Amino acid sequence: MTTLIAPSILAADFANLQRDIEMVNKSEADWFHIDIMDGVFVPNISFGMPVLKAIAKHANKTIDVHLMIVDPDRYIKTFADLGANILTVHYEACTHLHRTIQAIKAAGMKAGVALNPHTPIAVLEDVIADLDLVCIMSVNPGFGGQSFIENTYKKVRQLKHLIEFSKSDCQIEIDGGVTNKNAAALTEAGADVLVAGSYVFGSEDPLATIADLKTM
Ligand code: DX5
Ligand code: ZN
Repeated sequence: MTTLIAPSILAADFANLQRDIEMVNKSEADWFHIDIMDGVFVPNISFGMPVLKAIAKHANKTIDVHLMIVDPDRYIKTFADLGANILTVHYEACTHLHRTIQAIKAAGMKAGVALNPHTPIAVLEDVIADLDLVCIMSVNPGFGGQSFIENTYKKVRQLKHLIEFSKSDCQIEIDGGVTNKNAAALTEAGADVLVAGSYVFGSEDPLATIADLKTM
């Protein structure tokens, strides 16, 4: 199976958002990765519901929403109504993670959990069978354009073991600092989905950059 590529719209040109969405539509990318930040869970505010609504109107691929917000339970139905196909919450933001995962699925979406760089894979042992996606943060969440944290490879391998051991069909997503320098090694370690923001949108030819990532 080839690696799925999920361009992060955080790095798009917001004054030319429709143009950038159309670029992803016609590219070899698989998903739209949408970063929602609240300025509380992470030290940055990105964009919210009206912008996601506008994106969903034009996007013709899976919408993968990454919530970097406290108390995400409050907004599960809202994101389902806005067109999210996958909803990922942070382990560190959920007191009752099992309940949150069930609520995401009950709302008709696939359920993902993201782990900050300091959070060990082992915390997912008792929910892995319920998950559709685990997002391993390879930077500290909050900003695009940061450097990839090398410890990520070890976590991908550990997560791959956990998934195989539990016979889960959960996908492994890597988010932060993904480039052509680490994409092949991440796939080799077991990654299924690579998020790439600044590397794609900051490149001369985003279509070619996506196509290139796809071959790794
Ligand atoms: C970081 C976000 C990422 C970010 C990735 O908090 O979750 O999705 O947009 O951007 P790059 O690929 O530039 O590191
Ligand atoms: Zn993200």
